[in-house]
Amino acid sequence: MASFGLLFFLSGILIHLGLTTQCHICSDTGDYSANSTYGTNLNHLLSSLPSLTTLKDGFYNATAGQNSDKVYSLFLCRGDVSSDTCRKCINTTSHKITQLCPNQKEAIIWYEVCMLRYSNRAIFSNLEETPFYYLWNPYNTSDWGQFNKVLGNLMDGLVTQAASGDSDGMFAAGEAKVKSSQGSIYGLVQCTPDLSQRDCRVCLQGAVGQIQICCDNKQGGVVLKPNCNLRYEVFRFYVPTAAGIPPSPPLINNPITDGFSKF
Ligand SMILES: *[C@@H]1O[C@H](CO)[C@@H](O)[C@H](O)[C@H]1NC(C)=O
Ligand SMILES: *[C@@H]1O[C@H](CO)[C@@H](O)[C@H](O)[C@H]1NC(C)=O
Ligand SMILES: *[C@@H]1O[C@H](CO)[C@@H](O)[C@H](O)[C@H]1NC(C)=O
Ligand SMILES: *[C@@H]1O[C@H](CO)[C@@H](O)[C@H](O)[C@H]1NC(C)=O
Repeated sequence: MASFGLLFFLSGILIHLGLTTQCHICSDTGDYSANSTYGTNLNHLLSSLPSLTTLKDGFYNATAGQNSDKVYSLFLCRGDVSSDTCRKCINTTSHKITQLCPNQKEAIIWYEVCMLRYSNRAIFSNLEETPFYYLWNPYNTSDWGQFNKVLGNLMDGLVTQAASGDSDGMFAAGEAKVKSSQGSIYGLVQCTPDLSQRDCRVCLQGAVGQIQICCDNKQGGVVLKPNCNLRYEVFRFYVPTAAGIPPSPPLINNPITDGFSKF
C-alpha cells in the first residue's frame, strides 16, 4: 500500500450519525490459518476486549499467547464517549475486523468513536505514523485563508492540551469562532495514552500538517493514524465536556450512500 494510504470520501451526515462507518487496513506482514494457535489466541483476545472497556479510560492493551504465537492488541475509544458506547464500538469492531481481515496477523480498524488494532509485533508504547487514512467533508469553506488560520490556532492549542496528558488520557476537543462566517470550527485530537508526551506531540503535529494535504479548503477533515487521530468540522460532532449543552445538529446535510465510498 502506498504510504499515502487510501483516500476516502467523508460523508458528513453518516459520520455524524454513526458507528456503522469504518475504515480498515489488513497488513501484509504475515498470515495465519483459522485453526492455528495464533488464530485461537487472537479470537480469545478479541472476545475479551469488549468487557475491558470499563476498566480504563477508553484505552486498553492486552496480549495473548507466547513466542511466535503471541498476539498484541489494543483499543482506543474517543475521549468524549461513555464506557457503554465504547463497549458497543469495541464489540462491533472486534467482530468486524476478523471478517474484514480473516487471515492477516496484523490489522487495524477505525470506527467513528473507536479504534482497534492487533499485531504479532510488540506495538505498545511505540509511535507509528503509518499507515494512515484521510477523510474529508466534501463542502468547501467560503474563506479558507481565514478558516485555515483559525483552524491552525485551534489545533495547536488542542495538540498542546492532549500531549500534556498521561496514561489516563491524551485527548482534547474544543471550538473556535471564524470571524468572517460567524460560524465555529470544532476540533478533536487524541493519542493512544501509551505514548510519551513527546511522541504524542510528534504524532499530532504531523497529522495537523497533513490537513493541508487531505483537506485543503474543506469544511471538515479527518486524519487517522495508529497512534493518534484528529478531526475538525463546522458542526459539533463530539459530546461537549460541559454537561447539559446538547450537541448542535450537523450543518451538513448530505444525502449520500451507505458509508465511506472509495474514490
Ligand atoms: C479447522 O477446524 C474445523 C473444526 O474443528 C475443521 O472442520 C476444519 O477442517 C479445520 N481447518 C483446517 C484448515 O484445519
Ligand atoms: C500495556 O503496555 C504497557 C506499556 O508498554 C506495558 O507496560 C504493559 O505490560 C502492557 N500490558 C499488557 C497486558 O501487555
Ligand atoms: C456484540 O456483537 C455481537 C455481534 O455483532 C452481537 O451479537 C452482540 O449482541 C453484541 N453484544 C453486546 C453486549 O453489544
Ligand atoms: C469545492 O471546490 C473544488 C475546487 O475549487 C471544486 O472542484 C468542488 O466542486 C467544490 N465542492 C463543492 C461541494 O462545492
